[in-house]
Formats: sequence, structure tokens, C-alpha cells
Amino acid sequence: MEGVVAMFFMLGISLSHLVTGNAQTYFDVGKFGAVGDGNTDDSPVLGKILAPSVDARGTFKYDDCWLCFKHVDGLTVDGPGQIDGNGATWWTKVPISERPTALHFHLCTNLRLHGLTHLNSQKNHISIHNCSGVSISDLHIIAPSDSPNTDGINIALSSQLLISNTFIGTGDDCVAINGGSSNINITSVTCGPGHGISIGSLGEDGTSENVDQVHVTGCTFNQTMNGARIKTVPGGTGFARDISFEEITLIASGNPIVIDQHYCDGRSHHCQDQENALAVSDVTFSGFQGTSAAVEAINLDCSKQGCRGITVNNVNISSSVGKDLRVVCNNAYGTSDSTLPVVSCLLS
Ligand SMILES: *[C@@H]1O[C@H](CO)[C@@H](O)[C@H](O)[C@H]1NC(C)=O
Ligand SMILES: *[C@@H]1O[C@H](CO)[C@@H](O)[C@H](O)[C@H]1NC(C)=O
Ligand SMILES: *[C@@H]1O[C@H](CO)[C@@H](O)[C@H](O)[C@H]1NC(C)=O
Ligand SMILES: *[C@@H]1O[C@H](CO)[C@@H](O)[C@H](O)[C@H]1NC(C)=O
Repeated sequence: MEGVVAMFFMLGISLSHLVTGNAQTYFDVGKFGAVGDGNTDDSPVLGKILAPSVDARGTFKYDDCWLCFKHVDGLTVDGPGQIDGNGATWWTKVPISERPTALHFHLCTNLRLHGLTHLNSQKNHISIHNCSGVSISDLHIIAPSDSPNTDGINIALSSQLLISNTFIGTGDDCVAINGGSSNINITSVTCGPGHGISIGSLGEDGTSENVDQVHVTGCTFNQTMNGARIKTVPGGTGFARDISFEEITLIASGNPIVIDQHYCDGRSHHCQDQENALAVSDVTFSGFQGTSAAVEAINLDCSKQGCRGITVNNVNISSSVGKDLRVVCNNAYGTSDSTLPVVSCLLS
């Protein structure tokens, strides 16, 4: 119980300071909560923040994150508050390497984020890093379409995560799912503007990364740069598998369906295959309906090692600008059924 009281105290004090203050704030709740000596009952540290509106004003010394939580079990951050990173003062003046994520969770379990509005973050709005058991719902995440690197929710090394009923319109990925992530469900998310819902990029600089069991259902891509996307970098190892995007509404979405295994983080496009490649398998795109702003509606560009078990069905995409749409496949193995445009390039 002492841990709980201490945490409430600490969070209360720190968040109210933030309303007027500018410092980076790190909440290492592990220090106050779990004892971990084998004798003490380390029952979950339960806490709840009724978040007030906080506003990053003036300047503060850079670190990785602005509001940072570490080692918390059972924390709820509930609205209706507003977390405003005042990104406009950062985006053009401060290089990406010196801009913080607005709200960062590291090594958290049983985390719940609900109801808040997140505005104009300096870099990512929310990062979920090495957490498990995370429920995110009813958020509004908003930044201009041209704000750089302002991912909505960026996930890495995390499992058992659900994002639902959330609006994300920013200048980068609405949701990015990075290596080490598993059992991620995303449902009823409206994305746009933004770069879509992305898995990866995985395997950068020859790393080994795995992502599996990602299910995206009932989402809308509204004037996004991309829609449903998996991107891997040549030379990496690991896998991206058991991934589905289903019942997706497209409103003038750019590149609605993309597997890009020749992704090199903007440094070069269509970079060369290497000896190693991530294994992409068991990926389903089903129930896509609406319009594409790009001519290439479906691009399944796999490494020379190939992608297996690709399913494309019940797709009805037309052009938002009256053009004929194209489907491109490269080393993609799988099946398709009832699709417009017709997908005839999958290998069996
Ligand atoms: C943190 O990451 C490690 C390594 O991937 C993993 O074994 C551990 O379960 C993760 N912890 C949480 C809380 O997700
Ligand atoms: C995700 O959805 C699958 C299939 O409906 C379900 O089995 C799994 O428990 C869900 N996981 C989370 C974290 O919501
Ligand atoms: C799509 O985005 C436009 C421009 O932001 C907006 O006016 C429109 O209401 C959105 N449509 C849906 C269905 O969300
Ligand atoms: C595809 O969608 C368009 C626009 O909603 C609709 O008019 C058309 O009937 C649909 N075609 C099929 C085969 O479902």
C-alpha cells in the first residue's frame, strides 16, 4: 500500500508541476512500488492519473522523452486532458535526434490509456516500449500532416496490446509496430492524415526482429500516404507473420496495400536484395472497400526469398482520381479471390 500512496503522491506533484514547468519528467515507479527482495509481496502497483492538461512551453533539456513512465504495473491514464507538445516550436528548429517522444512507457504491464487528446508532439506522440497487457482506447491524436516524425502510437518489444476507437491524424505513421511485438489488435481506428498503419521497418542494419499476431480490423484510412503496410530492410533476419488487415475503409488513400521488402528508410528506395531477408508469411488483406489516390493500389514487393501465404480477398478499390489501378507482385506466393483490381500476379 505504501507504494501505491507514494506513486499517487509523486504523480500528482509532478503532473501539476508540468502545467507550469518545463522539465523532462521521469516516473520510475518501480522505485516506489515493487520491492523485489523475495520476501515482500510485490502485488501490482495500481495507480490512476486523471490527467490534467499539460503543455510543453518554453524550452527544456532534451532527453528521449518528455513524460516518461518506467516499471509501472496497473497504471491507468485517463482523460479528459490534453497533452500538448507544442511541436511547432521544435519541428523546424530542432533535429529529430534531439526531439523527445511526448509520452513514453517502458517496461510497463497492465497499462490503460483512455480518453486523452494528444496534440503536436515533438516526435512520436506515444511510445509503448517493452510493455505487455496494454489497452488504449478513445484517444484523439492530432498533428499537422506535414509535421515530421510525429507517429501517433509507436510500439516496440511489446505484447498483448489493444488499440480501439481512436482517431489518429498526424504527419507520420498512425500506428507503427516494431520488432519484438506480438499479439497486437487494432480496431476501429480512423487514420488520416498520416502514413497509415505500418509494421516495421524491421531488420534495419542487419538486425534480427520478429513481429507476429497483428490483427487490424474495422479501420479507416482517410487521405493517408499509405494504408496497410509491412516494410522490411534487406539484410535483416527474423519474421513478420500471422498478420491481418480486415474490413478496411479507404478514402482517397495512397498505396492502400503494401508489402515492401526493399525498404531502406528513405535513404534509397527499392534497395537491393541481400543474402538475408526477413521471412514474411501468413498475411491477409481482406474486406478493403473504397478509393485509392495512388495508381498502384496493391504492391506486394517481396524479397528474392519470397513471401508465403499471402491472401487477398473481397477487395473493391477504385481510383479517387478516375485512373486505372494497378497491382504489382514480386516473389509473392498466395491466393486471391473477389478483388477489384484483379490480383493475378500471386505465385502458387
Ligand atoms: C521486455 O522485453 C524482453 C525481451 O524481448 C521480454 O522477454 C520481456 O517479456 C519484455 N517485458 C515486457 C513487460 O513486455
Ligand atoms: C486479439 O484478437 C484475437 C482474435 O480475436 C484474440 O484471440 C486475442 O486475445 C486478442 N488480443 C488482444 C490483446 O486483444
Ligand atoms: C476525411 O478527412 C476529411 C479531411 O480531414 C474530413 O473532412 C472528413 O470528414 C473525413 N472523413 C471521414 C469519414 O472521417
Ligand atoms: C465496388 O464498389 C463500388 C463503389 O462502392 C460499387 O459501385 C460496386 O458495385 C462494387 N463492386 C463490387 C463487385 O462489389
